[in-house]
Amino acid sequence: MLQLRSCPATELSIDLLLEADPDIRQVERYLNAGLGFAAELDGKVVGVAVVVLGEGGEAELMNIAIEPARQATGLGSQLLAYVIEQARAQGIRQLGLGTGTFGHQLRFYQRQGFRVVAVERDHFLTHYPEPIFEDGIQHKDRLWLELTL
Ligand SMILES: CC(C)(COP(=O)(O)OP(=O)(O)OC[C@H]1O[C@@H](n2cnc3c(N)ncnc32)[C@H](O)[C@@H]1OP(=O)(O)O)[C@@H](O)C(=O)NCCC(=O)NCCS
Repeated sequence: MLQLRSCPATELSIDLLLEADPDIRQVERYLNAGLGFAAELDGKVVGVAVVVLGEGGEAELMNIAIEPARQATGLGSQLLAYVIEQARAQGIRQLGLGTGTFGHQLRFYQRQGFRVVAVERDHFLTHYPEPIFEDGIQHKDRLWLELTL
């Protein structure tokens, strides 16, 4: 049975967080400041998410990841819906996130209502020490998406 819960972000599995964000230094930077969320299937953590509160009712979804063997089975969508519900309950009015300009992640967020509001050119070239490739394409620019809660 799937259980979704909030927890300190520092309790979340680093291995899972690195699935979404390959740079450990970036991950460590937001762990202490973040609200954590976990998806547990039959008692085992299979998904994680981190939200960092900003100013004026804004927050950023810094990371969301599902264990590779269980991706594309609907767990991520359930975890994201839970994160949105919890953010709304905490009085957050706008949830933003950065993601690549192509790939299934974009559909995943847009299906839950996120909209593209900006393109950050060269973000993945200037903020990550190693090149990031997906489906044989290098991630260079980042899209900024927002959902009004
Ligand atoms: C992005 C992620 C959290 C989505 O969670 P999920 O449980 O896999 O997603 P769901 O099963 O709810 O499905 C959402 C959509 O993504 C698609 N999808 C998920 N993983 C996929 C994969 N590896 N390849 C192709 N499509 C995939 C699903 O098919 C579905 O899209 P569709 O209905 O248009 O086909 C998960 O795939 C993941 O952890 N990926 C690696 C980390 C990552 O990229 N995090 C986001 C950083 S921006």
